[in-house]
Amino acid sequence: MATRVALKFIRECSLYTKVKSNKIPRNYFCTAAASIPKKIPQFSKKGRLFTGAAIGLLIGGGAYASTVDEATFCGWLFNGTKLVNPFFAFLDPEVAHRLAVSAAARGWVLIEKRPDPPILELEVWGRRFSNPVGLSAGFDKNAEAIEGLLGLGFGFVEVGSVTPVPQEGNPKPRIFRLPTEGAIINRCGFNSEGIVAVAKRLGAQHGKRKLETSSTSSSTGDEVVHGGKAGPGILGVNLGKNKTSEDAAADYVQGVHTLSQYADYLVINISSPNTPGLRQLQGRKQLKDLVKKVQAARDEMQWGEEGPPPLLVKIAPDLSKQDLEDIAAVALALRIDGLIISNTTVQRPDTASKNPVAEEAGGLSGKPLFSLSTNTLKDMYSLTKGKIPLIGVGGISSGEDAYKKIRAGATLVQLYTAFAYGGPALIPKIKVELAECLERDGYKSIYEAVGADCR
Ligand SMILES: Cc1cc2nc3c(=O)[nH]c(=O)nc-3n(C[C@H](O)[C@H](O)[C@H](O)COP(=O)(O)O)c2cc1C
Repeated sequence: MATRVALKFIRECSLYTKVKSNKIPRNYFCTAAASIPKKIPQFSKKGRLFTGAAIGLLIGGGAYASTVDEATFCGWLFNGTKLVNPFFAFLDPEVAHRLAVSAAARGWVLIEKRPDPPILELEVWGRRFSNPVGLSAGFDKNAEAIEGLLGLGFGFVEVGSVTPVPQEGNPKPRIFRLPTEGAIINRCGFNSEGIVAVAKRLGAQHGKRKLETSSTSSSTGDEVVHGGKAGPGILGVNLGKNKTSEDAAADYVQGVHTLSQYADYLVINISSPNTPGLRQLQGRKQLKDLVKKVQAARDEMQWGEEGPPPLLVKIAPDLSKQDLEDIAAVALALRIDGLIISNTTVQRPDTASKNPVAEEAGGLSGKPLFSLSTNTLKDMYSLTKGKIPLIGVGGISSGEDAYKKIRAGATLVQLYTAFAYGGPALIPKIKVELAECLERDGYKSIYEAVGADCR
């Protein structure tokens, strides 16, 4: 019945239904106007109404859109991206991820035109960030889509983990969604095209990025214009080690030699749960030896006025109090420039354990990781007495979450899983909400709020 009614409606509304099938003469295109069939097509009343309404809507909508400012229009576009999220959710996680990276690499993504709220601007390691919300490692493992991702409005993007020699990683499937829990389990195992391929890509973009830096600074003085406007943005390079390598330090040193010239900051990732033995490098002695070697390799290289990129260490959320104390002691003694807290967890917190997918081996990320990683962050902020900039990552899916990380001791924050679920629309939302949280509590800048819950 419904189908019949629908068909009838379509037939009646069709522009062609009531058109008499006037046969067009064979010589139509070369005859005079007089030979054109005289009958003007007649449409039904409903058809005319429908067509008129559609045209009216189009003209009205277009006219309205032309009167709104660029910022509103940009907001519509970003919100509109939510419409494609169900399509991505329908695909295999790794296929969806590949599609997203390819689209960003080709520039088939929105560009954030709205400037970031000024309260979010900050300077860390002598680098200026227009906002503290970054994309964490693992999304753009091979540095394919930096410009597209920065253009979405992230304050910074971290590529990698990159291994010295290309490697495939673990067999597929190796990424699993837990949508109800807002979580992901992955056991990628550092699938990487390797430092040479990544260096080529970064090298090709480097000239352009540097050019943008200089033209940006000459045209706007000291203003930060990226993450919302043209400009180079901040790039982190996250280094990993090959699965079969027996000398971890040599792997990281190779990464430093090949990639550090392109990085605004470098990360030694020793916290992935999917590379056997990697997390043992977080032990006091191992960490000390490793960081010394990597720092030496970086400092031996020739650096210009800006100096070498800061060196950060990314740690796990599954460490004991003793482990954390050891890491804090090494970080302070060796003046590590920053810590990223945290990577994925091998634990299965209650909020995720009921989902059968939770039994998959690998690291859990997303909402169920939030408390664990934020508590680790808090501990580390207290242990390092707020002397080392910390990047808070793990389970951020709103501005309020980002704010909690900052209050727990983070100067910058990162996310991955919530972006995988929420898409581009999430980035402006988080930034606006974070600015609102700061203003609500009377803070004038991010610095004032850092570690507020640890004092
Ligand atoms: C599929 C996937 C791959 C990841 N790969 C890496 C990686 O190569 N290197 C790394 O340091 N972290 C990696 N991570 C961890 C994230 O960078 C981040 O630390 C973690 O997911 C917690 O943040 P989130 O809860 O916002 O996702 C990966 C995470 C996911 C989900």
